[in-house]
Amino acid sequence: MRLLKQLFDNNEKWALGMLRRDPEFFQRLARQQTPDFLWIGCSDSRVPANEITGLMPGEVFVHRNIANIVARYDTNCLSAVQYAVNVLSVSHIMVVGHYGCGGVKAALNGTDDLGLVQQWLGPIREISREHCNFLRTLPDEQSRWDRLCELNVIEQVQALVDTVIVREAWAKGRGLAVHGWIYGVHNGRLHDLNVTVASPDESRMTHERALKAITGGA
Ligand code: CO
Repeated sequence: MRLLKQLFDNNEKWALGMLRRDPEFFQRLARQQTPDFLWIGCSDSRVPANEITGLMPGEVFVHRNIANIVARYDTNCLSAVQYAVNVLSVSHIMVVGHYGCGGVKAALNGTDDLGLVQQWLGPIREISREHCNFLRTLPDEQSRWDRLCELNVIEQVQALVDTVIVREAWAKGRGLAVHGWIYGVHNGRLHDLNVTVASPDESRMTHERALKAITGGA
Protein backbone atom coordinates (compact mmCIF):
# COMPACT_ATOMS: atom_id res chain seq x y z
CA MET A 1 0.00 0.00 0.00
CA ARG A 2 2.61 2.48 1.16
CA LEU A 3 4.70 1.79 -1.94
CA LEU A 4 1.86 2.79 -4.26
CA LYS A 5 1.18 6.00 -2.32
CA GLN A 6 4.87 6.73 -2.73
CA LEU A 7 4.47 6.48 -6.50
CA PHE A 8 1.68 9.08 -6.52
CA ASP A 9 3.74 11.36 -4.26
CA ASN A 10 6.68 10.96 -6.63
CA ASN A 11 4.44 11.74 -9.57
CA GLU A 12 3.17 14.94 -7.99
CA LYS A 13 6.70 16.12 -7.22
CA TRP A 14 7.79 15.29 -10.76
CA ALA A 15 4.86 17.09 -12.42
CA LEU A 16 5.37 20.19 -10.26
CA GLY A 17 9.10 20.15 -11.01
CA MET A 18 8.43 19.99 -14.73
CA LEU A 19 6.03 22.94 -14.46
CA ARG A 20 8.57 24.98 -12.53
CA ARG A 21 11.07 24.54 -15.34
CA ASP A 22 8.53 25.05 -18.13
CA PRO A 23 4.99 26.21 -17.26
CA GLU A 24 3.72 25.37 -20.78
CA PHE A 25 5.25 21.90 -20.90
CA PHE A 26 2.17 19.70 -20.43
CA GLN A 27 -0.15 21.99 -22.40
CA ARG A 28 2.18 21.78 -25.36
CA LEU A 29 2.48 17.98 -25.08
CA ALA A 30 -1.27 17.59 -24.78
CA ARG A 31 -1.73 19.18 -28.20
CA GLN A 32 0.53 16.71 -30.01
CA GLN A 33 3.51 14.37 -29.87
CA THR A 34 6.25 14.73 -32.46
CA PRO A 35 8.89 12.16 -31.54
CA ASP A 36 11.71 11.58 -34.00
CA PHE A 37 12.58 8.15 -32.59
CA LEU A 38 10.98 4.75 -32.19
CA TRP A 39 12.70 2.65 -29.51
CA ILE A 40 12.17 -1.11 -29.62
CA GLY A 41 13.69 -2.49 -26.46
CA CYS A 42 13.46 -5.17 -23.80
CA SER A 43 10.82 -4.95 -21.04
CA ASP A 44 13.63 -5.32 -18.49
CA SER A 45 13.14 -2.72 -15.72
CA ARG A 46 16.82 -1.76 -15.91
CA VAL A 47 16.54 -0.47 -19.47
CA PRO A 48 14.21 2.57 -19.52
CA ALA A 49 14.43 4.30 -22.91
CA ASN A 50 13.97 7.93 -21.82
CA GLU A 51 16.30 7.91 -18.83
CA ILE A 52 19.16 6.21 -20.66
CA THR A 53 19.08 8.65 -23.57
CA GLY A 54 18.13 11.78 -21.64
CA LEU A 55 14.99 12.23 -23.75
CA MET A 56 11.93 14.08 -22.48
CA PRO A 57 8.29 12.94 -22.66
CA GLY A 58 7.19 13.47 -26.25
CA GLU A 59 10.60 12.73 -27.73
CA VAL A 60 10.65 8.94 -28.11
CA PHE A 61 7.88 6.50 -29.07
CA VAL A 62 8.50 3.24 -27.23
CA HIS A 63 7.70 -0.42 -27.79
CA ARG A 64 9.10 -2.94 -25.34
CA ASN A 65 8.73 -6.69 -25.07
CA ILE A 66 10.73 -9.51 -23.55
CA ALA A 67 14.10 -9.68 -25.34
CA ASN A 68 13.27 -6.96 -27.92
CA ILE A 69 11.90 -9.29 -30.58
CA VAL A 70 10.48 -8.07 -33.91
CA ALA A 71 8.28 -10.94 -35.09
CA ARG A 72 6.30 -11.05 -38.34
CA TYR A 73 3.21 -12.33 -36.49
CA ASP A 74 3.33 -9.82 -33.60
CA THR A 75 0.59 -7.28 -34.31
CA ASN A 76 1.52 -5.36 -31.17
CA CYS A 77 5.09 -4.62 -32.26
CA LEU A 78 4.19 -4.11 -35.92
CA SER A 79 1.35 -1.72 -35.07
CA ALA A 80 3.79 0.38 -33.07
CA VAL A 81 6.19 0.36 -36.03
CA GLN A 82 3.43 1.22 -38.50
CA TYR A 83 2.09 4.07 -36.36
CA ALA A 84 5.57 5.46 -35.68
CA VAL A 85 6.60 5.34 -39.35
CA ASN A 86 3.37 6.29 -41.12
CA VAL A 87 1.65 8.64 -38.66
CA LEU A 88 4.40 10.07 -36.46
CA SER A 89 6.97 10.02 -39.29
CA VAL A 90 9.92 9.12 -37.09
CA SER A 91 13.32 9.28 -38.78
CA HIS A 92 15.04 6.66 -36.64
CA ILE A 93 14.13 3.27 -35.24
CA MET A 94 16.52 1.74 -32.76
CA VAL A 95 16.37 -1.90 -31.74
CA VAL A 96 18.04 -1.93 -28.34
CA GLY A 97 19.12 -5.15 -26.66
CA HIS A 98 21.03 -5.40 -23.40
CA TYR A 99 23.69 -7.59 -21.85
CA GLY A 100 22.38 -9.82 -19.09
CA CYS A 101 19.01 -10.26 -20.85
CA GLY A 102 17.04 -12.96 -18.99
CA GLY A 103 14.98 -13.70 -22.12
CA VAL A 104 18.08 -14.40 -24.17
CA LYS A 105 19.48 -16.62 -21.41
CA ALA A 106 16.23 -18.61 -21.18
CA ALA A 107 16.32 -19.13 -24.95
CA LEU A 108 19.95 -20.23 -24.74
CA ASN A 109 19.28 -22.72 -21.95
CA GLY A 110 15.93 -23.87 -23.30
CA THR A 111 14.38 -24.11 -19.83
CA ASP A 112 10.80 -25.36 -20.02
CA ASP A 113 9.44 -23.89 -16.78
CA LEU A 114 8.68 -20.48 -18.35
CA GLY A 115 5.62 -21.63 -20.31
CA LEU A 116 4.32 -18.86 -22.54
CA VAL A 117 7.56 -16.90 -22.30
CA GLN A 118 9.49 -19.83 -23.76
CA GLN A 119 7.04 -19.86 -26.68
CA TRP A 120 7.60 -16.13 -27.20
CA LEU A 121 11.37 -16.71 -27.27
CA GLY A 122 11.16 -19.02 -30.31
CA PRO A 123 12.87 -16.53 -32.66
CA ILE A 124 15.90 -16.33 -30.34
CA ARG A 125 16.20 -20.12 -30.11
CA GLU A 126 16.17 -20.05 -33.90
CA ILE A 127 19.02 -17.49 -33.93
CA SER A 128 20.97 -19.60 -31.46
CA ARG A 129 20.51 -22.67 -33.71
CA GLU A 130 21.58 -20.68 -36.77
CA HIS A 131 24.80 -19.64 -35.06
CA CYS A 132 25.40 -22.85 -33.07
CA ASN A 133 28.75 -23.54 -34.77
CA PHE A 134 30.05 -20.18 -33.62
CA LEU A 135 28.48 -20.30 -30.14
CA ARG A 136 30.01 -23.74 -29.56
CA THR A 137 33.51 -22.31 -30.04
CA LEU A 138 33.10 -19.90 -27.10
CA PRO A 139 34.83 -20.80 -23.83
CA ASP A 140 31.98 -20.28 -21.38
CA GLU A 141 28.31 -19.65 -20.74
CA GLN A 142 28.84 -15.91 -20.14
CA SER A 143 30.41 -15.30 -23.56
CA ARG A 144 27.71 -17.37 -25.30
CA TRP A 145 25.10 -15.26 -23.49
CA ASP A 146 26.78 -11.94 -24.38
CA ARG A 147 27.27 -12.86 -28.04
CA LEU A 148 23.68 -14.12 -28.38
CA CYS A 149 22.40 -10.81 -26.93
CA GLU A 150 24.34 -9.03 -29.70
CA LEU A 151 23.33 -11.46 -32.46
CA ASN A 152 19.70 -11.09 -31.41
CA VAL A 153 19.81 -7.31 -31.95
CA ILE A 154 21.39 -7.73 -35.38
CA GLU A 155 18.80 -10.31 -36.44
CA GLN A 156 15.89 -8.22 -35.10
CA VAL A 157 17.17 -5.21 -37.06
CA GLN A 158 17.09 -7.40 -40.17
CA ALA A 159 13.56 -8.59 -39.34
CA LEU A 160 12.47 -4.96 -39.05
CA VAL A 161 14.19 -3.98 -42.29
CA ASP A 162 12.37 -6.86 -44.02
CA THR A 163 8.92 -5.59 -42.99
CA VAL A 164 6.59 -4.13 -45.62
CA ILE A 165 6.31 -1.01 -43.44
CA VAL A 166 10.01 -0.14 -43.64
CA ARG A 167 10.31 -1.25 -47.29
CA GLU A 168 7.38 0.96 -48.32
CA ALA A 169 8.75 3.95 -46.42
CA TRP A 170 12.02 3.59 -48.31
CA ALA A 171 10.22 3.08 -51.62
CA LYS A 172 8.48 6.41 -51.04
CA GLY A 173 11.88 8.03 -50.49
CA ARG A 174 11.29 8.62 -46.79
CA GLY A 175 14.42 9.25 -44.72
CA LEU A 176 14.28 6.39 -42.25
CA ALA A 177 17.26 4.77 -40.54
CA VAL A 178 17.17 1.54 -38.53
CA HIS A 179 19.81 1.08 -35.85
CA GLY A 180 20.97 -1.80 -33.63
CA TRP A 181 22.32 -0.94 -30.18
CA ILE A 182 23.13 -2.84 -27.03
CA TYR A 183 23.05 -1.52 -23.48
CA GLY A 184 25.23 -2.55 -20.57
CA VAL A 185 23.13 -2.86 -17.40
CA HIS A 186 26.49 -3.20 -15.58
CA ASN A 187 27.87 0.18 -16.71
CA GLY A 188 24.91 2.20 -18.05
CA ARG A 189 26.47 2.59 -21.47
CA LEU A 190 24.90 2.19 -24.91
CA HIS A 191 27.02 0.56 -27.59
CA ASP A 192 26.34 0.83 -31.33
CA LEU A 193 26.54 -2.55 -33.12
CA ASN A 194 27.19 -0.77 -36.45
CA VAL A 195 24.25 -2.26 -38.24
CA THR A 196 22.55 1.02 -39.21
CA VAL A 197 20.67 0.83 -42.51
CA ALA A 198 18.84 3.62 -44.32
CA SER A 199 18.13 2.02 -47.70
CA PRO A 200 17.33 -1.45 -49.05
CA ASP A 201 20.55 -1.71 -51.10
CA GLU A 202 22.86 -1.55 -48.12
CA SER A 203 20.83 -3.77 -45.81
CA ARG A 204 22.17 -7.22 -46.73
CA MET A 205 25.81 -6.15 -46.80
CA THR A 206 25.56 -4.24 -43.52
CA HIS A 207 23.87 -7.24 -41.92
CA GLU A 208 26.59 -9.65 -43.07
CA ARG A 209 29.35 -7.29 -41.95
CA ALA A 210 27.81 -6.82 -38.49
CA LEU A 211 27.40 -10.59 -38.05
CA LYS A 212 30.97 -11.18 -39.13
CA ALA A 213 32.25 -8.59 -36.63
CA ILE A 214 30.85 -10.81 -33.89
CA THR A 215 31.30 -14.34 -35.21
CA GLY A 216 34.47 -13.77 -37.25
CA GLY A 217 32.63 -15.54 -40.07
CA ALA A 218 32.21 -18.79 -38.11
CO1 CO B 1 16.07 -8.39 -21.54
